[in-house]
Amino acid sequence: MSKPLLFNAFLMNTASHIHHGQWRHPEARQHEFNDVNLWIELAKTLEEGLFDAMFFADVTGLYGPADGQYVDNVHEGLQIPSNDPAVLLGALAVATKNIGLAYTSNVMQNHPFNFARQVSTLDHISKGRIAWNIVTSTQENAARNFGFDALVEHDARYDWADEYLDVAYKLWEGSWDQDALLVDKQGERYADASKIHKINHVGARYKVEGPHLPSPSPQRTPLLFQAGGSARGISFAAKHAEAVFIGPPNPAGAKIHTDNARAEVVRAGRREEDLKFFQGISFIVGSTHAEVDAKREELERYTSVLGYLTHSSLGVLPDGSRLPEDTELRNIPNNGGQGHVDWLRAATPDREPTLADLAKNRIERGVVAGKPEEIADQLSAWQEAGIDGINVINWRLPDTYLEFNERILPTLQARGLAKTAYEPGTLRHKIFGRDRLPENHPGAAYRGAFGPRATALPPEFVTAGS
Ligand SMILES: Cc1cc2nc3c(=O)[nH]c(=O)nc-3n(C[C@H](O)[C@H](O)[C@H](O)COP(=O)(O)O)c2cc1C
Repeated sequence: MSKPLLFNAFLMNTASHIHHGQWRHPEARQHEFNDVNLWIELAKTLEEGLFDAMFFADVTGLYGPADGQYVDNVHEGLQIPSNDPAVLLGALAVATKNIGLAYTSNVMQNHPFNFARQVSTLDHISKGRIAWNIVTSTQENAARNFGFDALVEHDARYDWADEYLDVAYKLWEGSWDQDALLVDKQGERYADASKIHKINHVGARYKVEGPHLPSPSPQRTPLLFQAGGSARGISFAAKHAEAVFIGPPNPAGAKIHTDNARAEVVRAGRREEDLKFFQGISFIVGSTHAEVDAKREELERYTSVLGYLTHSSLGVLPDGSRLPEDTELRNIPNNGGQGHVDWLRAATPDREPTLADLAKNRIERGVVAGKPEEIADQLSAWQEAGIDGINVINWRLPDTYLEFNERILPTLQARGLAKTAYEPGTLRHKIFGRDRLPENHPGAAYRGAFGPRATALPPEFVTAGS
């Protein structure tokens, strides 16, 4: 028997997230994303399928060049219109019991003081089932939406994220002692001021006094996801992340990525098993190969190549025209996501990939097709390549997940590749067997760092209590 994989549903609060064009299928319901009932029904389906988390991607602007046209984006429904996932999670938290609720938030879109408060509130509402996908944004338009002239340079965005996390850890882990909340009606004291601390953070971008306004939530720090694949992205993940979402085109690429990243985790003073890897996979399942082929043909009929190319942002000019498909990627300036180009290069070692390769790769990447037993074999191969979990990418809502539950899950369970019941407790407890960050994580260093118990720390860490 194999070890069970983890399973997330990869979602976005929009009509066209990854598989562009599929919203036009007559049975697709992703265009109903404004209706909270679509999501509540889906959440229940996913809990029936014992999914570990609903993982919401998010963006805060348009794909494409700054000052570029966005005709293709809106024709495709490509992440515009789109809604805020954090607000949706509040509704999903009360409609579910077990499933984790992961959402993406970039470091530009929210001040860390406010973001940390939002997360703590959601973690209270969900009783400890919140995860955060830490992203630095790849969109020039998003930078302009938040008052910047341009996107900060690629590696410097990760430096920014380092400080952002530092502020958030101080608030989540250091500001409140565990026994600060009293709610003592007779003693007329709601909380103990000597155990609630200002953090007095002063850094390159932020000055935050504190204290954190919410009392400690079940996980304090949410489960930390990250999704960058560049060298700087991997070193960032090795320091902070508890799970990473990766997208190499095949198990061989995943093996290189996971070996490399696990070695960095150990260099960062953590244990290999402290970081879980999730691969994005789209399934095409059939009882026969003829059924699989027919389904693939139907998906191809709705596929929008233009949508995939627009999503990649590469090769699109401000007037909406495009560079020729045989343009090599090394000839296109790229301050956006770089990991996906590195993964493509690793898969075409004999030559530099072109825009045509990029489009083809985006359409075919992570598609696992076949009879249920063949799908199980392929997932075993991904697992052997170092993958701990799968982010199940949908073609259609809710069909992709209904079909997964009915036609794929039973075989995976019989093979030991999927669990048969939820573990109790918080999301971190379900995945790692603990509610809180482990002691070797940088966030844990702020426990007891602000207040009377801080006397053993170097003077620059010691700040007055409240
Ligand atoms: C599988 C995957 C999913 C991602 N999801 C999002 C997302 O939802 N929102 C976002 O702004 N960026 C997203 N990104 C972008 C990354 O967070 C990161 O900013 C980008 O990949 C640049 O980092 P890199 O150059 O280290 O790869 C995603 C990246 C990958 C590989």
